[in-house]
Amino acid sequence: MSIRINEKERLFSLETIHTEYQMKADETGVLLHVWYGLKTGSDMSSRIRTANRGFCGNPYEQQTRFDYSLDTLPQEYSTDGVGDFRSAAVKVKLENGSRSVDWRYAGYRLLKGKEKPQGLPGLRGNAETEGLEICLEDKVSGLNAFLIYWLFEEQDVIVRSVRLENRGTEVITLGKAASVCMDFPYGKKEVMHFHGRHAMERVPERMGIPQGGRLAFESRRGMSSHQSNPFIILCDPAATERQGECWGFMLMYSGNHLEEVSMDQTGSVRVVSGIHPEGFEWKLAPGENFQTPEAILSFSAEGLNVLSRNYHRVIRKEVIAPRWRNAKKPVLVNSWEACYFDFDAEKLLDLSKAAKDLGMEMLVLDDGWFGKRNDDTTSLGDWVCNEGKLGCSLKELSERIHETGLKFGLWVEPEMISPDSDLYRAHPDWALQDPGRLPMVSRRQLVLDMGREEIQDYLFNRISAILNDAQIEYIKWDFNRSVANCWSGALPADRQGEAAHRFMLGTYRLLERLTAAFPDVMIEGCSGGGGRFDAGMLYYCPQIWCSDNTDAIERLEIQKGTSYGYPVCAMGSHVSACPNHQTGRTVPLETRGVVAQTGTFGYELNPAKLTDEEKQTVKQQIEAFHRYETLIEGGDYYRLDEGEEDYTAWMVVSPEKDEALVSFVATHVRSNGAFPLVRLQGLEPETVYRREDTGETVTGAALLQGISFGQMHGDYPAVQVRLKEMKNEK
Ligand code: GLA
Repeated sequence: MSIRINEKERLFSLETIHTEYQMKADETGVLLHVWYGLKTGSDMSSRIRTANRGFCGNPYEQQTRFDYSLDTLPQEYSTDGVGDFRSAAVKVKLENGSRSVDWRYAGYRLLKGKEKPQGLPGLRGNAETEGLEICLEDKVSGLNAFLIYWLFEEQDVIVRSVRLENRGTEVITLGKAASVCMDFPYGKKEVMHFHGRHAMERVPERMGIPQGGRLAFESRRGMSSHQSNPFIILCDPAATERQGECWGFMLMYSGNHLEEVSMDQTGSVRVVSGIHPEGFEWKLAPGENFQTPEAILSFSAEGLNVLSRNYHRVIRKEVIAPRWRNAKKPVLVNSWEACYFDFDAEKLLDLSKAAKDLGMEMLVLDDGWFGKRNDDTTSLGDWVCNEGKLGCSLKELSERIHETGLKFGLWVEPEMISPDSDLYRAHPDWALQDPGRLPMVSRRQLVLDMGREEIQDYLFNRISAILNDAQIEYIKWDFNRSVANCWSGALPADRQGEAAHRFMLGTYRLLERLTAAFPDVMIEGCSGGGGRFDAGMLYYCPQIWCSDNTDAIERLEIQKGTSYGYPVCAMGSHVSACPNHQTGRTVPLETRGVVAQTGTFGYELNPAKLTDEEKQTVKQQIEAFHRYETLIEGGDYYRLDEGEEDYTAWMVVSPEKDEALVSFVATHVRSNGAFPLVRLQGLEPETVYRREDTGETVTGAALLQGISFGQMHGDYPAVQVRLKEMKNEK
């Protein structure tokens, strides 16, 4: 039994294979957060100590106990306005203007059979997945919080969300509804977050937490954003890739989000994460409820690599749709960097034939095939093929591409509308924009009001018509601007604070309908590269274009940063032409292949323009990818280059530990420099492995001590070492 409840003590323990999560409703009825760490099998609540800290008020029921304060006790879902002066998990406004909320424990319910949060993506689970729901009640307002916990034992993951229900008689306006709040009363902590920008996403940064202060990692762009991923890690200051305690907080949401990390007067650290409260307001009439997105939590006592692997496993198994889990995905060639907007059917067919000769398996026709679109200024919303430009219909093109032996994929950007489009001319009110104000434009486009059902229906019908008409196996779903002027013509003035979240609910609903209607069409998410790389999108899109930056050396950083929370199988990664279109850098084709292989693998260039020698290399890369695909996409991933400045190295090990692939890229070759020694991980010490590159046989124990790559030469050389257990060697 992974959920233990001590009824008398009102103590709740949730256990996964290695971890335990505890909370307790105390004698006041306040739900205290007791423990999240290694499995203990004991009541950990004796660690909660109280003292009169001064200026920490006491709830009325405890007015004689100056040591009992909501401001100093570890809270499971913090209140507002009633004496906890740290970050609140929830903010409300009642009809009389009162802004306080004060939770008391009101019971629990065991859950079995995973349910998805209403209207939102959620971990999939199955009929056996166990969960717990704890009810907290605010007697005065009638606002109840149902704290929902689901256990994913194998992956050491606990999923939290909250349903706020108005059981009172008046309207309650929510101003904040976090998915998770957690207090850490003991020990110094550091936080890692993943910032970035277009073409350089998910850059890890690690920092201390200011005492008496608060760090905020956030997006208010209507998308999870390039600038701040909805994922943070709290860790012991001594934690490394290989050791130390760390806690992950990943929000399964693709819109505005806020992760607050604060340290109070006594050194207690609080994390609160959820939908961004700024600009958010949600009216709950009596009987109505609001469901927060899920937060995916994990703990590792063995460093960051283990924490990352917990996320990789849970995303592969419980987030990505079963249809695409472990599915072999076609090696694609994308038309974007090959021809941008300049193509017709003949050019695409030439590209297809050249791609087929090298072993590529799918042509993706990127932007520019619809409306009057010959540059990025028009036609979004007019999802009708530009037959004049192509020289044939989409159906005909898809058939001819298939005749060359390739599958066919298509780019769309459904949530957008160009002012210069037939759609906008017919429905100017479909775009989000403030009344009486000229809207912010970005790439000359506006954003559709996705919360409106008629807009979802229009997009569903248009996209369905295309998918029914032409032979299409793949869609690239783009999102190329931040959301501003988030005012919806469909909502009354006092509900405009709902527009941004309703936008996300609308997008999710459309994706839900399309993936149900076309289960065999794979959708790759994209947002100017990786601007919406989050667990919410991964629920619908088994892979996401990691970045518009295809420079292999920069990609090393981007993919490494992404790997802290997300699996390799989700990272869209292509070999592109050199000099690279973003940086002008030239990197050997072999190295570009090694980098792109640690991802979904494909090409973003015109294969016809390659030299004969390059064509041979590409053929070999594709063959190698097919050989390693199962290992790369389903294996255990380890970052190996902690603190190294001159190289990046990583490896994947098969779950059985009988095979591994080590990848190494020198990012700075030094004359007469130190030899890099890469200490491998994850291998079985007793097992004897054969190194495919040198033919040597070596024990796992020796490999764990490291392999030396010797003196490197040239620009950005790469080495790949495949290891195979001797007895199973094929
Ligand atoms: C975004 C994507 C690119 C490409 C262009 C097309 O920037 O990230 O890969 O599809 O849009 O306009």
